[in-house]
Amino acid sequence: MKLVNILTAAALTISVASAQDVMQKSMSIMEEGMTQIQKGFLNNNIELIKSGTKLVKDGNKLFSDKKIIAQYLPENKKHMVNVAENAAKRIELDVNVLELNIDEKAYINAANAYSDVLNACARCHSIVRSW
Ligand code: HEC
Repeated sequence: MKLVNILTAAALTISVASAQDVMQKSMSIMEEGMTQIQKGFLNNNIELIKSGTKLVKDGNKLFSDKKIIAQYLPENKKHMVNVAENAAKRIELDVNVLELNIDEKAYINAANAYSDVLNACARCHSIVRSW
């Protein structure tokens, strides 16, 4: 193999590896956030709902760019990148609705926004996992 090829292969491996990290980081932050929100609702712990909401918001920011999302879609699902991106946008909106409702002490509406976030997670996962 020529040196150029070896270098190109190495560079590709590195960029794929770091892209992998972005997804895993984003997902684990959002998973932790969703767990906190659920615990917060179940135990009537508003602070936990708030901190979980912030985590979901931060995690979602890492994985909402169309170019990044596209890298994780299987070849036969690349055409669904807009649907996947919309799931990320939906999470962003839901999280805002959740926060506003918590501030207003409208807890039922806040819990509905939480459910909608969960639906949006499933929407994107259904694409990547061919559910
Ligand atoms: C825009 C697409 C998209 C959205 C939205 C999304 N995910 Fe993911 N998620 C992925 C991809 C891609 C994977 C990796 C492939 C797989 O696990 O099937 C993944 C995997 C995961 C994993 C397993 C992580 C791992 O390291 O294998 C968890 C946990 C997870 N997501 C949590 C969430 C939660 C919680 C939400 C909602 C708050 C969410 N995801 C929303 C695309 C998304």
